[in-house]
Amino acid sequence: MKVVHTIADLRAALAPFSSPSFVPTMGNLHEGHLHLMSTARGLGDVRVASIFVNRLQFAPHEDFDTYPRTLEADCAKLEAEGCDVVFAPSEKELYPQKQGFLVQPPESLANILEGHFRPGFFTGVCSVVSKLFNCVFAEAKGERFAVFGKKDYQQQMVLRQMVHQLNMGITIVGGETQRTVDGLALSSRNSYLSDDERKEALHLSLTLRDLARDALSAGGALPGTLAGLEERAMAALTARGWAPDYLTVRRRSDLQLPDANDAIKPASLVVLGAARLGTTRLIDNMEI
Ligand code: PAF
Repeated sequence: MKVVHTIADLRAALAPFSSPSFVPTMGNLHEGHLHLMSTARGLGDVRVASIFVNRLQFAPHEDFDTYPRTLEADCAKLEAEGCDVVFAPSEKELYPQKQGFLVQPPESLANILEGHFRPGFFTGVCSVVSKLFNCVFAEAKGERFAVFGKKDYQQQMVLRQMVHQLNMGITIVGGETQRTVDGLALSSRNSYLSDDERKEALHLSLTLRDLARDALSAGGALPGTLAGLEERAMAALTARGWAPDYLTVRRRSDLQLPDANDAIKPASLVVLGAARLGTTRLIDNMEI
């Protein structure tokens, strides 16, 4: 496995290949990321991962400075997973000057849910992912693949639309969320949790599961009863000491609220949630 830190070295390492499959990450890798790498196996002719903590997607009060940087351990895990090339640029390499050109997703997707609570987040994500795509795929003559986890459900949808609307010619592949045996979605931010918080953390997925069950049993009455069901789910989590940002049922197709015209049926909906436990903000989702 080659570890490269410059765009020039990345292009040299990829020159013999025509069809990269790419897993962008911010490092501090866990089994969820390694699952994305294994999803990339068999796609294309070279597997590439990037490790870059992207300042542009963090608000000033967020955890950019404290986000764990664990390059050596990450590379060991990627090598064991059979990754071919790791691109770990410095900030100066990827942002040699202030990034004036930004990729701005449409408000209908970028200002709801995560985007509402983290303004500018998706602009930061789309901008860095576009740059990384340009670094990894610029010389690729064959099919290009990029793998993103479903745990970041909205991010994956935003990036799919970016690739589509900007005619990037990249196939986006979704990787299933990986969970601990007790059901907690794997996340780099789980490492911030104390032992007690770690035990409590799985109640985010349990509450989403209850909300999914209630949404399904509401059937055709869902649009009229949804606000009440969501409030009940938020109250249940609040009573356990969480500070929820949102727990909501959305259409899978566009992440908007289901309305009376939607045929409410399984496989058309997803429940999504974000909530703070102590100082750690966790997100999770479930397709129903
Ligand atoms: O999901 C992530 O880790 C990041 O948002 C990504 C896609 C690597 C962009 O920085």
